[in-house]
Amino acid sequence: MMTYEEALQYLTAHGQAHLLRFYPELTASQQERLLTQIEELDLDRPQFQGLEAMTQKRGQFAPLGALTLDKIDVHRDEYRQIGLKAIRDGKVGAVLLAGGQGSRLGFDHPKGMYNMGKTRTLYIFECLIENLKKVTDAAQAYVPLLVMTSQQNDAETRAFLQAHDYFGYPADAVYFFQQETEPAVDEEGKILLAEKDSIVLSPNGNGGWFSSMQRAGMLDLVQKKGIEWLNVFAVDNVLQQIADPVFLGATIASGCASGGKVVSKAAPEERVGVLCLEDGKPSIVEYYEMTEEMRTRRNDDGSLAYRFGVILNYLFRVSELMDTLGSDFPLHVAHKKIAYVNEQGEKVTPDAPNGYKFETLVLDMVHMQESCLAFEVEREKEFAPVKNAEGVDSVATAQALLEKNGVTL
Ligand code: UTP
Repeated sequence: MMTYEEALQYLTAHGQAHLLRFYPELTASQQERLLTQIEELDLDRPQFQGLEAMTQKRGQFAPLGALTLDKIDVHRDEYRQIGLKAIRDGKVGAVLLAGGQGSRLGFDHPKGMYNMGKTRTLYIFECLIENLKKVTDAAQAYVPLLVMTSQQNDAETRAFLQAHDYFGYPADAVYFFQQETEPAVDEEGKILLAEKDSIVLSPNGNGGWFSSMQRAGMLDLVQKKGIEWLNVFAVDNVLQQIADPVFLGATIASGCASGGKVVSKAAPEERVGVLCLEDGKPSIVEYYEMTEEMRTRRNDDGSLAYRFGVILNYLFRVSELMDTLGSDFPLHVAHKKIAYVNEQGEKVTPDAPNGYKFETLVLDMVHMQESCLAFEVEREKEFAPVKNAEGVDSVATAQALLEKNGVTL
């Protein structure tokens, strides 16, 4: 382990010596804890060289077509049979991304524990597992469900699912793994302290899921079971269709290395990331990265050229994912409210964003694939995100969509 002097020298060289501010008043074990965290910082990375160092260079964008609803309908049964067979053959695993902090929702527990019910309880985790069970009932085979948690919510997530008997899913088909952490900084780029003896470490974004699986030994399981496809999805879409056999079948039949569920954008101003091509490879262009020309460009039939918005539901072929291990992911900066300990040693819980967190995103993994099938789904049937406490993509809008789909709340 680093000595105090080594830590001080290292931090001073990188403008982060304030992390040792409370060192003299800590107990020996607290001092050790802090020095261990400092040793793991890796301060030569771009996020500690100022935000300008992180600007991502983008290539040449071009639109990417999708397998649209009408085309899917023509082959629906065929795709479904291919997908169900892949599930029965044990070739499919599902990865639930549940390591986020859900700070916009402002719920003090893992998001999956949120109760969507009105007259009964209906937890978000329950909505997801209910949807998965419809598929596994039809396939007559279980899909291993790999749940990514964070250091912060791991114990609570496991305890909650266990206490609810995994909502009827077999316990031995559910696996957990934790994602890595990243330090958070204030608006001047200074790393924040969560306590006098510890740094603010937050989950490092959903892009780390595959490398986190590797570190947790999960890839051995994937290989042992012969899983060929992983369906990765967000916890916070209560209409999420998991291991959707039609999506699986269409992706397998397409020969693509990956697939992404997309919904048609209704208007150019809609703020969603769009699946497209970047330098000939699949990629997702964020709303704020699109030029006005890209946002409004239309095809001959009048439809938007950049029209297929992603909903965080992807299929990846495991053999191709193995090649992404060790790749450098671009880091995305998120301006957030971050609780910290100030210079006086007092805890501060800000009510406006006061710093930055750095995240890798699963969408960047799409660009590491040779090809991606954009698979169109009906928004009202498959996309009800719970992001905010009120307004757009809130509990109320998701509840309305659940009810529209016949779910009693
Ligand atoms: P979001 O990007 O909406 O982030 O996550 P969030 O942390 O849940 O919410 P806010 O931004 O703080 O309000 C999209 C999906 O990615 C998962 C989330 O759990 C959700 O399923 N995620 C996000 C992770 O698994 N790990 C992360 O580090 C971040």
